[in-house]
Amino acid sequence: MRRGQILALTLAAALPGAALAGDAAAGRQKAQMCAVCHGPMGIAAAPETPNLAGEPEGYIVRQLRAFRTGKRQHEVMNVIAKSLSDEDIDNVAAWFNSIKVTATAP
Ligand code: HEC
Repeated sequence: MRRGQILALTLAAALPGAALAGDAAAGRQKAQMCAVCHGPMGIAAAPETPNLAGEPEGYIVRQLRAFRTGKRQHEVMNVIAKSLSDEDIDNVAAWFNSIKVTATAP
């Protein structure tokens, strides 16, 4: 990894998500349509599906916008993201980010 990338990652990790203003409660409602694949608590319920629980809010927002424009390609997520408004995206990102996850070594 180049030094610039490390610096960028360090900065991103150091900045709190202060500018992100999603409503997690509204996002939880909206995320019912995601549960069949991503699980009701963001732990994936379908194969080949990523866990969303605890993912960084800004990352989720960027991925959903990229699916919506087609910049990130996935036949299912491209269709789903098209049905989401900017507000929906902010809200579901806040909801999935707010879920607490713990990791246990195997
Ligand atoms: C029919 C199953 C299905 C449904 C319903 C679904 N997803 Fe997905 N989602 C997927 C799959 C499969 C991927 C992996 C895409 C890939 O391989 O690039 C994915 C990827 C994502 C990612 C990228 C995660 C990452 O770590 O890069 C986000 C964010 C996401 N989905 C959010 C949502 C949200 C929010 C909803 C509901 C509004 C939703 N998805 C509904 C199947 C689904």
